[in-house]
Amino acid sequence: MATAPDIRPTVDYRHLVQDGRLHGSLYTSPQIFAEEMEQIFHRGWSFVAHDSEIPNSGDFVVRRVGTQSLIALRGKDGEVRVFYNRCPHRGATLCQTASGHRSRITCPYHAWTFALDGRLIGLPDEGAYPPDFSKADAGLTPVARMDSYGGFIFVNLIPNQLTLREHLGHATELIDALLGLSPTGRIQLTAGWMKHKMRSNWKMIVENQVDGYHAPMVHGSLITANRTFATVRDRKPTSPTRVRDFGMGHSDIDHASDYRAAGDRLFRWTGGIDPERLPVYVKAMDDAYGPEDARRRLIEGPPHSMLFPNLSLAEMNIMVIEPVSPQHSIQYTIPVFLEGADDLNARTLRRCEGAMGPAGMLIADDAEIGELTQMGVANLEPEWIILSRGLGKEEVLANGVKLAGLMDETSQRGFWSHYREVMAASQEASQ
Ligand code: FES
Repeated sequence: MATAPDIRPTVDYRHLVQDGRLHGSLYTSPQIFAEEMEQIFHRGWSFVAHDSEIPNSGDFVVRRVGTQSLIALRGKDGEVRVFYNRCPHRGATLCQTASGHRSRITCPYHAWTFALDGRLIGLPDEGAYPPDFSKADAGLTPVARMDSYGGFIFVNLIPNQLTLREHLGHATELIDALLGLSPTGRIQLTAGWMKHKMRSNWKMIVENQVDGYHAPMVHGSLITANRTFATVRDRKPTSPTRVRDFGMGHSDIDHASDYRAAGDRLFRWTGGIDPERLPVYVKAMDDAYGPEDARRRLIEGPPHSMLFPNLSLAEMNIMVIEPVSPQHSIQYTIPVFLEGADDLNARTLRRCEGAMGPAGMLIADDAEIGELTQMGVANLEPEWIILSRGLGKEEVLANGVKLAGLMDETSQRGFWSHYREVMAASQEASQ
C-alpha cells in the first residue's frame, strides 16, 4: 500500500476560492499544482480505465493518475487489477506502450517476470539472492483501492474515507443515463483514444466541459457551418436547458428537458437524425425496454457532464483530463459505442472525428480559448477571476442538487466548492 508523502497544502484555499470569484494563481502556481496532484488525484477517486478497453486476459492499458503511471491489466481469472508501472526490483518502467496484450509482464531491465495477477514468477539467477529473499514479497504493487461503476474503473491511491459510491453520489444517475442508451446496458470504448495536448491548466478544461455560456461565441463557426451539432446550436440564452450542480464537484448541462420539450421524433443528440435511419438500433432498444421507455431514452439522450476530477461523459464521447503541469494538460477523447447498435456507432464515429478529431470543428475552438485564457491569467492583474453569473439564483432540490440557467456559472462553482473543501480540509486536518 502506498504511504502518504510529506506534502501538505500550505496555500489558503478558502481565501483563493470564493463563492463568486477565484484567484488567478489557482491556474498558474507550481505549488498549487503539486498540492492538487497529491490531495485530489492521489488521495481521492480518479477514473483510470473502462472495462471494455481490456476485454481479454492479458490486455492492459497504461494510464497516468496525478503523477503516477499505472497499469490496468486483466488477469487469467478475468479480474481487472491496477498496478503501479514500476518494477519492484530497481524501479524500471514495466510497460512503455499505452496499451497492449501480454501473457506475462517482463521487465526490460533484468527480466524479472510477473504473472497477470502481479506475482513474481521468474528472475534470472534467483539463487544469488540471500536466503530471506522471497518471490512472494516481490510482486507488482497494486493500488490501494480500486472500484468500478457501470464498467468505469476508478482508483484511490492513498485511501481516503469515501467509498466510490459516496464519491460519485448523485452522479451515478449520469452514468446510468449513458448506459441506458445501450440495448444491453453496456458501452464499448474500443475505437481508440485521441490525444490532444492542451496549453491550459486542467481545471480550465473541467470548467469548459460544462460551460453553457461560451458555445455561441467560441463555437460560432461550427454552428454556422454544421447544423448537425444540435446541442451546440441550441445553446441560446433563452434555452430551457439547465445546468446542474450534483455536489462532490460533479455537474452537467441537462439537455434532456429541452429535448423532451421539443417533442419531435428526432433523436436530437444524434444531430437530429430520423429514427428510420437507425433501424438496428431502434429495434434493439424497443426489444430491450419496450417502445414507450425506449422512445423516452432516445429522446432524452446522453449526459453532458463532468465527474470530479478527470472524467467527462460528453454526450457520445468520453473525455479524460490528464494534468501535466500548471500550464499543460492532455485531453483524451473516445467515441461511445453502444453494444448492439452498429448503425448508430458508425455515425457516432464520424461525428466524433468531425468534432473532436485532429481537424475537428469543436475541440480546436476549445483548445484555442483555453490557451488564450492560460496566457491571460499569467498576467498579474486583475488578480481575481469573476465567477458569479447566476449566483444566488439557483433552485435547490430536496436532494441538494442545484439547478440554474444554461448560461449560469453554477456548474463551475460546484466544481470549485468541492475543490475548496478537498484542498482546505486536507490542510486543516494537518494543522
Ligand atoms: Fe526490473 Fe531489474 S529493474 S528486473
